[in-house]
Amino acid sequence: NRELRGAGHPGLRVVEPIGQSAPFLAAVGLARSVAGADVPVLIHGETGTGKEVLARNLHLWSRRAAKPFVAFNCAAVPEALIESELFGHVRGAFTGAGADRKGLFEEADGGTIFLDEIGEMPAVMQAKLLRVLQDGEVRRVGASRPSMVDVRVVSATHKDLVALVAEGRFRADLMYRLNAVTLRIPALRERGDDVALLAHFLLGRACDQARKRVPGFAPDALWALSRHGFPGNVRELENEILRAVALTPEGEPIRAAAFSERVADRAPPRVPARALSDGPITLKDAVTDTERRVIEGALARTGGNVSQAARDLGLTRPGLYKVMERLGMRDT
Ligand SMILES: Nc1ncnc2c1ncn2[C@@H]1O[C@H](COP(=O)(O)OP(=O)(O)OP(=O)(O)O)[C@@H](O)[C@H]1O
Ligand SMILES: [Mg+2]
Repeated sequence: NRELRGAGHPGLRVVEPIGQSAPFLAAVGLARSVAGADVPVLIHGETGTGKEVLARNLHLWSRRAAKPFVAFNCAAVPEALIESELFGHVRGAFTGAGADRKGLFEEADGGTIFLDEIGEMPAVMQAKLLRVLQDGEVRRVGASRPSMVDVRVVSATHKDLVALVAEGRFRADLMYRLNAVTLRIPALRERGDDVALLAHFLLGRACDQARKRVPGFAPDALWALSRHGFPGNVRELENEILRAVALTPEGEPIRAAAFSERVADRAPPRVPARALSDGPITLKDAVTDTERRVIEGALARTGGNVSQAARDLGLTRPGLYKVMERLGMRDT
C-alpha cells in the first residue's frame, strides 16, 4: 500500500520548476540558496502552485540528493494510522501489526521527508513530530527505545499557519521548528507570462502522454489562458491542457473552444477582418481592423508572451492592455 503511505513513485521523473516571472524566480532563488543548509523548510502556496515540485527540487539541490525523498500527505491518511506510518511499529504493537515495520522517517534516513498539508496534522501527532525535530529520534509504535534518524524535514501548506496557531489549532513551537525558512510560491495569476511558458511545457508533456501531435496554441487560446485567473493554479492549467489535447484533432493547434467554458469564455470575440474590397469602410474602422490584426499576430508570434509582444509593438505591457481594451479584445 505504497500509495496510501504517500511515498513518492520511485520512477517518476522530477520536473524542473518552470517559470521566469520575478516573483517565481525569487522563490526558486531562495530555495536554491537554502537547499544546501540542513534547516527545515516550509513551503507556502495556494493549491496547485507547485509546492511538491519545489520540494523535490530542493531535495535534488541538496547534499542529500542521492538519498531518498519520501512524501507523506497528512490530510490523506486516517489519524489513527499516521503515527505508525511516520514512525513505524513493532510486531504486536496493535491488532494487525504482524511484523516489525519501518516508518517513513527511517526510510528517509539520510534524505528528505516531505510533509504535505502539514496544517492538517492532528494535535497528538504535532507533539510527537516536535520531539523528532528537537532530538532527531523516532520511536516505533510499541518500541521501548527510540532510534536516531538523520532526515531533513520539508513541509507544505496552503493554509496560513500563523492563523492556525492563533486559533489554537497548530502548535506555535512546532511552527517555529518547521519554518526556519519559508518559501512562498506565488499564485499563477501573479506570475504574468509564466502562464504561456507553463502552457507550452504542459502541452509537450500532455502530448507525450497521449502519444499525439498537437503543434501549439491558436492565438485565441493563448489569449483566453492569459485572461483566466486560475484559482486552481498550475494544476488547473494542466487539467485544461489535458482536456484540450484530448479534444483537439491530431496535427491542429489548440483553440480556445477546446478549453472548459470558464476559460474559453475569456477568448476575444471573433471579429472578422474586412477586406477593403468588401465595400465602403471608414478610415477609423480600417485602422481598428489593422490594429487588431497586428496585435493578434504579435501575440501569436511570441506564443502569448504579452510582455514580449508589447516590446515588439513598441508599447509597455500596460500600454498594450489598454489598446486591447479599446479594441474590445480584452474583458476586464
Ligand atoms: N513550476 C512548475 N514547473 C513545472 N511543472 C509544474 C510547476 N508547478 C506545478 N507544476 C505541475 O503542476 C502540477 C501541480 O504541482 P504540485 O503537485 O507540485 O502542486 P501542489 O502545490 O503540491 O498542489 P496541491 O495543492 O494540489 O497539492 C503537477 O503536475 C506539476 O508537475
Ligand atoms: Mg501537493
